[in-house]
Amino acid sequence: MGGAGGRIRVVKGDITTLAVDAIVNAANESLLGGGGVDGAIHRAAGPGLLAECRGLYGCETGSAKATAGYRLPARWVFHAVGPVWAGGGRGEPGLLASCYRSCLALARDAGARSVAFPAISTGVYGYPIEAAAGIAVREVQGFLGTFPVPETVVFCCFSDRDREIYETLLEKTDAP
Ligand code: APR
Repeated sequence: MGGAGGRIRVVKGDITTLAVDAIVNAANESLLGGGGVDGAIHRAAGPGLLAECRGLYGCETGSAKATAGYRLPARWVFHAVGPVWAGGGRGEPGLLASCYRSCLALARDAGARSVAFPAISTGVYGYPIEAAAGIAVREVQGFLGTFPVPETVVFCCFSDRDREIYETLLEKTDAP
């Protein structure tokens, strides 16, 4: 199973419904929930998720921490804290890339064979979707080209527009 070819998928839908081993949450540094995908994941997982998150004492921007998935189909939730977009000159690209690498490393170390990512930072945090998707695709392709686990990565988009942006990027850069 060389390279990333065929190991990356793009879907449109609600990440809380995906039957993958791990889903990634676009969280904030408190890890105590919020709106957007964070709110959806906590609603679907139930109160046990917040209880476990309380014991993690937060997470730095650019990093991620793992919890169980509770009532979610996914066995794990990787809570990633993306950067707030501030124009691109405050280290946002590097911090966003670091979120993806941190989640992929959590998946590799836990043995999560399939991982689904939302478009981290592109909602409330205002990161332009085109730039964020480019970072996501580059980091995932790089990681999959080096490690056999996770076997599959799913980009779970919440709009047709976002899905088209990811699909276009993957067509351009998919390994031959
Ligand atoms: N499934 C998949 N994607 C979703 C879902 C869902 N159920 N709900 C929202 N999204 C998408 C949004 O449309 C956006 O493309 O997730 C992406 C990330 O948007 P946000 O959830 O707003 O996350 P982010 O921009 O990283 O902001 C994080 O928002 O909810 C708070 O607590 C969170 O403070 C943190 C901040």
